[in-house]
Order: sequence, then structure tokens, then C-alpha cells
Amino acid sequence: MPRATIIDCDPGTDDAIALLLAMGSPEIDLRLVTAVGGNVGLGITLANARALVALGGSAVPVVGGADRALMRPYQEAAYVHGENGLGGVVLPPGPPAAPGLAVDAMRALLRQAAPDSVTLVGIGPATNLGLVLAAEPELAGRVAEIVLMTGAWAEGNVTPAAEFNAWNDPEALQIVLSCGRPITLATLELTAQAVCTPARIAALRGLGGGAALRAACAIEATVPPSKRLGIDGHPEHDACAVAWVVAPQLFTSRMVFAEVDCGNGPGRGQTLIDRWDRLKRTANVRLLETVDAEGFFQLLGQALTRLA
Ligand code: BDR
Ligand code: CA
Repeated sequence: MPRATIIDCDPGTDDAIALLLAMGSPEIDLRLVTAVGGNVGLGITLANARALVALGGSAVPVVGGADRALMRPYQEAAYVHGENGLGGVVLPPGPPAAPGLAVDAMRALLRQAAPDSVTLVGIGPATNLGLVLAAEPELAGRVAEIVLMTGAWAEGNVTPAAEFNAWNDPEALQIVLSCGRPITLATLELTAQAVCTPARIAALRGLGGGAALRAACAIEATVPPSKRLGIDGHPEHDACAVAWVVAPQLFTSRMVFAEVDCGNGPGRGQTLIDRWDRLKRTANVRLLETVDAEGFFQLLGQALTRLA
């Protein structure tokens, strides 16, 4: 059975690949796409989400959400994703956004859903997801799983301590982490194993495919190589979260306790992930630890070639 899924995103070059992977995967029944600010401003992430949904040939509604975090404005990342969020690649515009706000659209969908039936994939700052769970906590019971690309168990990528999405809204992330539903985390350590290199882009291009595959490759080619990892390539952060929903057999994981630093010191946004159960706290998160990179890129290639 395909999994009923909502994707909350801030496209974003890697969000773009994640959305296309989801739309090209029969294992996912994409019900709603919501946009949040983050990599670039909400006006741009929303326009990109609309364009990507059209590119993927999907009629799924796209709804705009938060344009700032619960406590602060977002810190953007145009230096990675380009001023237009897609590395300067220009896509044909998508249909207009559906009316209303992400938090209301998600709540409406969840209210009509059966218990434990909807998968939430969060690949931007957690603001929209946190607002849903804070506004109507009982809707958590409709959620089967929340899969997040966020956090790191060691080093951050935006401060020494914090990963970008966690840094951009730690308070919202903490609401999500403590909601009591199954949560799966794709952290920086995991996504560092799914590296998109020039050779992998060439291999994807070689698959032929249509406009979606060509656009995905064009977007991938704009992403600067990761200085942090010292490699000629970049981590495919957000698509890892979607890949977990599509093909969990590609991953290994363990259950851990995790929380996020919401203080105002240098640790703000750091995810504290107790991989060795030192704190003896109840595990609240499935931590993805390894991914089969070859399998991941094969999955991505298959999904992209399914799209027009
Ligand atoms: C995360 O931050 C964003 O820049 C990416 O889209 C991804 O969601 C990686 O830290
Ligand atoms: Ca993202």
C-alpha cells in the first residue's frame, strides 16, 4: 500500500530532488506539499514547490506556511542554493498555491485521516510541523511516522554545533521531537553517505528520461562541493528522508533519545542524540545511521525516469 504522505519543504536544491523522488515513487501517495521559509524566503520556496509539483506531473495541492521561525527570522542559505533556491535553474511556473496556510491544510487533512495513517516528511525548518502539533496535539494520533532531515550527532553545518534546519527553528523541532509519535531522523552524518558527485550526475543524465530528470541533473550540477566534507560533491540531504519512506531496506538505524538545544548560547540548535544510551532516557527517535549509497542513487534514477 502506498503511504499517504505530506511533505513540508523549503526548496532548496536538495528539497527539489526530494520532491521529485517522492513524486516518482509508487510507494508514496503524496497528499499535500507545504512550503516553509528557510533556504530562501517563503515567497520563493512556495513558488519553487509549485513549479516542482508541476514538473513532477502531480496535481497535489501546494500550500504556503511560515515565513519565520517561532522565535526569530530564518537565516537563509542562498550561498548554497542560489538566490532563486534552485541554483539559478529556472523552471516553468506551477499552478497557483492552494488557499490557506500550511498549518490549517495539514490539520484539515489529518482530521479526516484514520489513526496512524499519515506520514509527515519534514525537510526544512520544523515551524509548520511544530505549529500543527502545538495547535491541535490530538492530531498526532493520526500520524504514522514523522521523518525529518535535521540535526547531527556530532558537528553542525551552520554553526559548529547546529545543523541548518534545527538551527532555524529549534523550538518547533523540540515540539515535534516530544510529540510521542514515531520519529525518524536523517542527520548530517547519514546524509554525508549519500554524496552526489559529478560522476553520479553523469550517470543520472545517461538514463535519458524527460524534463524532470534533466531539471534534477541541472539543479544538482549547480550545488557547490561540500567544504565541510572535503569532497567533490554534495550530500543529498533531503532525499534521504524520502528514501527512508520509499526503501527502508537501504538503511540501518537504532532507537535513541534525542532533544534539541533551545538556549541562546553557542549550542543553540544542537541536537543532543544519545547514541549510547548514556542518559537512560526513553528513546523517542529512530536514528538512521547508514545508507547504501549505490542503492540510494539507483532508487533516485528509477524515480526520475518514471517522471515525464
Ligand atoms: C538541510 O538544510 C538545507 O539547506 C537543506 O535543504 C537541508 O534540508 C541540510 O542541513
Ligand atoms: Ca531543505
